[in-house]
Amino acid sequence: MIILGIESTAHTFGVAILNERKVLVNIKDSFTTESGGMIPRESAEHHIAVCDIVLKKALEQAKISLDEIDVISFSQGPGIGHCLRVGAIVARSLSLLLKKPLVGVNHCIAHLEVGRLIAPECKDPILLYASGANTQVIAYDGGKYRIFGETLDMGVGNFIDSFGRVLGLGFPAGPNVEKMAGEGKNFIDLPYSVKGMDVSFGGMLTNLKQKLKQGDFSKEDLCFSTQETIFAMLIEVSERAMAHCEKNELLLGGGVACNKRLQEMANIMCKERNSKCYVPENQFLVDNAAMIAWTGLLMYKAGIHIPVSKSEIRPYERTDDVKVTWR
Ligand code: ATP
Ligand code: FE2
Repeated sequence: MIILGIESTAHTFGVAILNERKVLVNIKDSFTTESGGMIPRESAEHHIAVCDIVLKKALEQAKISLDEIDVISFSQGPGIGHCLRVGAIVARSLSLLLKKPLVGVNHCIAHLEVGRLIAPECKDPILLYASGANTQVIAYDGGKYRIFGETLDMGVGNFIDSFGRVLGLGFPAGPNVEKMAGEGKNFIDLPYSVKGMDVSFGGMLTNLKQKLKQGDFSKEDLCFSTQETIFAMLIEVSERAMAHCEKNELLLGGGVACNKRLQEMANIMCKERNSKCYVPENQFLVDNAAMIAWTGLLMYKAGIHIPVSKSEIRPYERTDDVKVTWR
């Protein structure tokens, strides 16, 4: 079975084509800036400008013609309305044109499912999902992906991007902050905010802005200390979720999981618990269409698809709103 997946929840417009478990192509075009953050309307305009080019490129590279596609899936939510709408329109158009079934996928769940595609031996993990808008610790329990811990304010990636903006870095700031952190060596105390199973970053952002204004610390040391502190927070709640759920697999997902220091901390924690840590390669960590195609395939095989008239976008859909019938 050939499935085409479309991703467009935020900054990335992506198209992937899978033949069962085989990823034939996973293409994307992402909205970026030289300085300043992401403006939703501009990101949606970017998607409109590139959607047909990305689709054409995907078909060419996969050597698949439109009439060979069996199922169309798309990111239905959560995400930015302006952006989600572009992907949904492309998916609906293809579904109507080709007379093929349409599957609406929850983007957060796709971040988890793709880990099980890449590492089939990873059966029942705790997912540390650390991306721009989302920061959640998720596990499968009783027919749903349940959230055991999450951010109380902003996602960890949005926090890093906001901090990067103050440092004068463009969007996304994560990779540059990581680079600067590598040049820092003095640890500066920052507010460590774990509340039960949840984390928060707002206080740290205010604190960092004050420290930058004072000018007593180097940017490199601040980046280094920021990474050490926020990643320790994420690993602490992930470890507690593993202990609570008695699971011995940790899976990383989301763009922030590309960070080598976070990966290192996750590996150390898992080793100390005699557990296994799974880190998909970067193309499957950041927003990507392969995870949407793969989750769409799992859902379709479980009998889930929707008519175009019921394919409305769901900008606020939560991970635990979705009944998981494909496991
Ligand atoms: P979601 O919609 O799932 O919340 P997203 O739209 O923010 O995700 P992702 O591609 O999953 O998209 O994540 C992007 C985030 O990852 C950005 O905030 C970016 O700064 C961050 N990021 C990317 N690479 C790194 C890195 N090496 N270190 C830290 N953060 C990173
Ligand atoms: Fe994402």
